[in-house]
Amino acid sequence: MTPGPDPKTMQYTALQLAWLHELGIDKPWIPGDARAVAPATPATPKSAEALAPSVEQSVQTQPIAARADSETSLPGSAPVRAAPRATGAKHAQAVAPMSAVSIAAMTALTSAAAGAAPDLQSLAGAANACQTCGLCRERTQVVMGQGMTQPAIMVIGDGPGEQEDRQGLPFMAESGLLLDQMLATIDSARTRDVYLANVVKCRPPGNRLPRPDEIAACRPYLLRQFELVRPFSILALGRVAAQSLLNTEEPLQNLRGRVHQLEIAGQQIPLVVSYHTGHLLNHPADKAAAWQDLQLLRTLRR
Ligand code: URA
Repeated sequence: MTPGPDPKTMQYTALQLAWLHELGIDKPWIPGDARAVAPATPATPKSAEALAPSVEQSVQTQPIAARADSETSLPGSAPVRAAPRATGAKHAQAVAPMSAVSIAAMTALTSAAAGAAPDLQSLAGAANACQTCGLCRERTQVVMGQGMTQPAIMVIGDGPGEQEDRQGLPFMAESGLLLDQMLATIDSARTRDVYLANVVKCRPPGNRLPRPDEIAACRPYLLRQFELVRPFSILALGRVAAQSLLNTEEPLQNLRGRVHQLEIAGQQIPLVVSYHTGHLLNHPADKAAAWQDLQLLRTLRR
């Protein structure tokens, strides 16, 4: 990969410096500082369609702080998100895992619907009509995405929360505010050069994370969304988004700190993994590491 700009020579605006100050990073460019920007290590290209989990090991370039439950749980479980949203313990109970055949049947249904959509509006229409995984029963509305096509960055979260479900837009409330601040540090904004979306388009009830069967059923909508939005780079926020996009069960800390490649419609799209904003709200100490992830993303700037 072509090396990006040297962070020592980067110019920072007052807002960026204020955010950095809040994170305790006043001089991120000091050589040898443990919090300095992690080098971008290219990872093996992966196809978004690939089914086999990755066995790749990443090289960890800096210490990572302890992770919240939402960032450590294994796929298959349905933990409640770290973000301080609605309580919903009654929804977080274990659900019998769905058979591979049932999941394949659901995915075939949604593949047909998503694949037939010629544009984002039709794709949203197809998702609105979708009753494949059952999340539709408790959602208020589908939260498809927000932003411009061909953006510099497409941000992917796990799924809509209470506010997103109410307003029909991704990354609202505290999580959204934090994401806006983070984007500002790399001269980006949801109103400019960014597209925001989620792995699942309907709110999982009670603030729980989406289950593997729900993610699989919704995957064709996300893949078609990538094809139609055509992002220049992807920022996967949190374990669920990262693992499902990269088809891996590797823990989040192994996936951070390097540039992955996702194949979308024959194109390799660089992908960077970071902490979920909900996790950062509960674990502010990890904001410094998230800042490093953003700098890595920034080196990809077109
Ligand atoms: N809001 C979203 O839209 N997605 C998330 O993953 C978190 C908050």
